[in-house]
Amino acid sequence: MSFPCTTPTVPFMLLISLVLASFMVVSAGTFYQDFDLKWGDGRAKIQNNGELLTLSLDKASGSGFQSKSEYLFGKIDMQLKLVPGNSAGTVTAYYASPPIHISLSSQGNTHDEIDFEFLGNLSGDPYILHTNVFSQGKGNREQQFYLWFDPTADFHTYSILWNPQRIIFSVDGTPIREFKNSESIGVPFPKNQPMRIYSSLWNADDWATRGGLVKTDWTQAPFTASYMNFSANACVWSSGASSCTSTSPSSTSSDNAWLTQQLDSTSQERLQWVQKNYMIYNYCTDTKRFPQGLPPECNLS
Ligand SMILES: *[C@@H]1O[C@H](CO)[C@@H](O)[C@H](O)[C@H]1NC(C)=O
Ligand SMILES: *[C@@H]1O[C@H](CO)[C@@H](O)[C@H](O)[C@H]1NC(C)=O
Repeated sequence: MSFPCTTPTVPFMLLISLVLASFMVVSAGTFYQDFDLKWGDGRAKIQNNGELLTLSLDKASGSGFQSKSEYLFGKIDMQLKLVPGNSAGTVTAYYASPPIHISLSSQGNTHDEIDFEFLGNLSGDPYILHTNVFSQGKGNREQQFYLWFDPTADFHTYSILWNPQRIIFSVDGTPIREFKNSESIGVPFPKNQPMRIYSSLWNADDWATRGGLVKTDWTQAPFTASYMNFSANACVWSSGASSCTSTSPSSTSSDNAWLTQQLDSTSQERLQWVQKNYMIYNYCTDTKRFPQGLPPECNLS
């Protein structure tokens, strides 16, 4: 964009701030508008005029895609329908992470990531939904769940709410995990780098299903996962600036309530219901793994 060389006039500034403010809410576009197919040599496909995206995996390769935009905080929703039938050994990863243009080695200790991973299983056996949060290179914060429905029968909505105070993972609007900002007790929180949304379908039969005991049955290939109805209510990061900082507080509307959202009492109860009935692993209770003491964020309720 080229700017006029004169001092900007008030209407000009107004125009600019309107343009920026309008980026605050990124309404759902098509998959053509929002994503790039990144790998898999034709195994990732956008279909139905951009309303459906599918990833597939066969013996030769998996596939993946990434968002065109980078976000620094947002409420990101996607509907997924996972690999049906015998999906043992397959993993569908859906996550937010800083752009890969920073090589992993140079990124070193600053890597952030907010992860959903779906570990396939034999027909009729439950998927595991694996979650993790990395901040400044440190992960080891796994929580795993079974789901209260068959995630291969229909599309379900998987959401990441990421604001400066917390990260909330939700499934069909039910929170399953909250990771609070615990910087006050020295735990880094991902908030200094914009992230893209990534997804990939790949073979992980060395560890995914029953710890690697069940191998991928390639006679069932190709394996396919489907995506629909992406929506990002988010601050878009572009050319070193956030679309949100330009918005004056007076323009606060319900559209950006997510920026300060927290769990209300009903949501807390839903979260406890999931954690009581569907959580199968929680790093915060794994005292064997952390003989020197549980990670500090675990001691906050
Ligand atoms: C697969 O099914 C078995 C048996 O029900 C279960 O123990 C396991 O947690 C399931 N999920 C994965 C990913 O192994
Ligand atoms: C798409 O997602 C939005 C919110 O993210 C939701 O309101 C709408 O019902 C969804 N559409 C379908 C077809 O599920």
